Amino acid sequence: MSKTIVIGVTGSIAAYKTADIVSQLRQRGHEIFVVMTPGAKNFITPLTLQTLSRHPVLHDLSQEGAPTEMSWHPGHIELADQADLLLVAPATASAIARLAHGFADDALGAVALATRAPLLIAPAMNGKMWDHPATQENVLRLRQRGVEFIGPASGMLACGYEGAGRLIESSAIIDHVEKLLSEK
Ligand SMILES: Cc1cc2nc3c(=O)[nH]c(=O)nc-3n(C[C@H](O)[C@H](O)[C@H](O)COP(=O)(O)O)c2cc1C
Repeated sequence: MSKTIVIGVTGSIAAYKTADIVSQLRQRGHEIFVVMTPGAKNFITPLTLQTLSRHPVLHDLSQEGAPTEMSWHPGHIELADQADLLLVAPATASAIARLAHGFADDALGAVALATRAPLLIAPAMNGKMWDHPATQENVLRLRQRGVEFIGPASGMLACGYEGAGRLIESSAIIDHVEKLLSEK
């Protein structure tokens, strides 16, 4: 059954992979709305994700319009209310820290605080950043609030090191999204 999925994209080298995730989930019949951090725009353009999702991309709280024609709510509140699931893929160390502490200083943080939809996070970062106690404390804090994580996978990382930190395969993310949506 068609669901509304809000996909948060953050400033990781793996952000280009979100294009495939957006495309595949849309082809499965879901409504996809993308929210980007300012940092994510260094790695993939809103235009790409707007085209693949077939909806405007929210990336600037001060410039947001309503995401749907029927809506008068601020864009981030409308998305938060409509979402059946919030997926953040890839999630940077920085974004995980902000989500753990409830920052709403960008569109993604605002949607994450305003929604009551389940939150699924797919981290991507250097292995030492992932292993760092600061990141692990933030992950634990989120898990204790019921947030689910998928990955990261181990292997050769874009930064040149090997270890845990790769964005897990798109197919695994999509399967997990479908599982969470079927439980709703
Ligand atoms: C080439 C490059 C690749 C990066 N890849 C990652 C990454 O995979 N994971 C991560 O946590 N940070 C990565 N960073 C650092 C983030 O872009 C930086 O922390 C940024 O402030 C994150 O912003 P955001 O979390 O608001 O999107 C990378 C930086 C550069 C220059």
